[in-house]
Amino acid sequence: MFNLGDTLPNFQAETTIGTINLYDYLGDSWGILFSHPSDFTPVCTTELARVLTLMPEFDKRGVKVLALSCDSVDSHCKWIEDIQAVAGSSGEFPYPIIADEDRELAVLLGMLDPVEKDRDGLPLTCRAVFVIGPDKTLRLAILYPATTGRNFDEILRVIDSLQIVEKHQVATPVDWKAGEMCMVLPSVSDQDAACLFPRGVTVRDVPSGKSYLRMTPAPQP
Ligand code: BEZ
Repeated sequence: MFNLGDTLPNFQAETTIGTINLYDYLGDSWGILFSHPSDFTPVCTTELARVLTLMPEFDKRGVKVLALSCDSVDSHCKWIEDIQAVAGSSGEFPYPIIADEDRELAVLLGMLDPVEKDRDGLPLTCRAVFVIGPDKTLRLAILYPATTGRNFDEILRVIDSLQIVEKHQVATPVDWKAGEMCMVLPSVSDQDAACLFPRGVTVRDVPSGKSYLRMTPAPQP
């Protein structure tokens, strides 16, 4: 199991675009790796179709997309036709799907769900989402059970937050969306905040009288 900030190990994998090496595939970009229990399953198909539709959003953020499912490359290639039909798209499929038939990678990356089992009683791969930073460290990990489809709008929202926090000394408040007010990090002094955030810092009054709710307009990402 990997913790936030851990460097993900490099690995080679068979995919729908041939053999890839994780680090070469990602280059200096951000990445998202998301896993699936198996091909031709209903929830997974809707998820991969959603990611297909959202590709311009991932591209805009400079995020390389990589899916994993525990079936063969041949099976993935046939499944892609269904995914494209569900997404209403055609042409070249824009992101690779790793074939993890023996679940070796799912085990390595801690993506198994011990509760959900396949027909042979083996644990299924859960719906894991890893966001990987340009330095190959794990920046976000969410594990969903196989029975709950992910919300990829939320994942894009978190990527927006991760990317703004990477560059500026801010945090993003509850339900934040790109462009909305950010919060000055508690570790930044008022004096430094005045220099770091020339667009201004507003302090929200709270009964404690402590001035820790410091808002500033979203810096340019
Ligand atoms: C699905 O993708 O629909 C699914 C896969 C495994 C278990 C439950 C649902």
